[in-house]
Amino acid sequence: MGYDLMAGTGEVWPHLLEANPHISQITAVDLSAGMHQLAMKRLHAMRAHRIDFIEDDVLASNLPAASADFVVSTFGLKTFNAEQQRKLAQLTARVLKPGGRFAFIEASDPRGWWLRGLYLFHLKVVLPLVERLLLRGANDFAMIGTYSTNFGDARVFVDMLRAQGLNAEFRKAFFGCATIACGAKPVLGSADMNDAAI
Ligand SMILES: C[S@@+](CC[C@H](N)C(=O)[O-])C[C@H]1O[C@@H](n2cnc3c(N)ncnc32)[C@H](O)[C@@H]1O
Repeated sequence: MGYDLMAGTGEVWPHLLEANPHISQITAVDLSAGMHQLAMKRLHAMRAHRIDFIEDDVLASNLPAASADFVVSTFGLKTFNAEQQRKLAQLTARVLKPGGRFAFIEASDPRGWWLRGLYLFHLKVVLPLVERLLLRGANDFAMIGTYSTNFGDARVFVDMLRAQGLNAEFRKAFFGCATIACGAKPVLGSADMNDAAI
């Protein structure tokens, strides 16, 4: 069992469950129960028996310690400031069981990529325009370019996860347009070592 933090409409669940058929349950955690219920009805009816939901604020969460074999989170980091990211790193370290794994992915600024200018033009100008014109004035992507460049990449978050005692690594996807913080909680972390010494 594991958590999808800031799960939204659960876009990642089909991929997660297909790649890991042994997963018995994903517990979606989000501020919005309404969005979750709608997504369950429209997108996830066929996998509803493997999805649970907890309405919760990940920045002030009482999710139980050592309750998860894995934590995933997709595209929820970029609007968080440094202090909020630190709280998320703390929560991840707390809820994972020793040996539990985690992966966060976020839209990022592909610094150093020769097509960066074109990509950011697409993100900041083309995508919001297409969305406004073709999706009846929707503005879900209006700020994604700004959020991505403000966020930078997942390197800082990787350092925060390491500061919480997790083994974390940084990865790039698609030339750095998305970046990943992933890894595991050590089986014998400092708390376990203290126990072992007693
Ligand atoms: C950009 S969406 C990402 C949704 C989904 N993970 C995806 O990949 O499409 C951000 C989600 O985070 C949720 N969220 C934002 N702040 C939160 C918080 N403090 N605690 C829990 N959920 C939060 C929002 O309700 C929203 O569903």
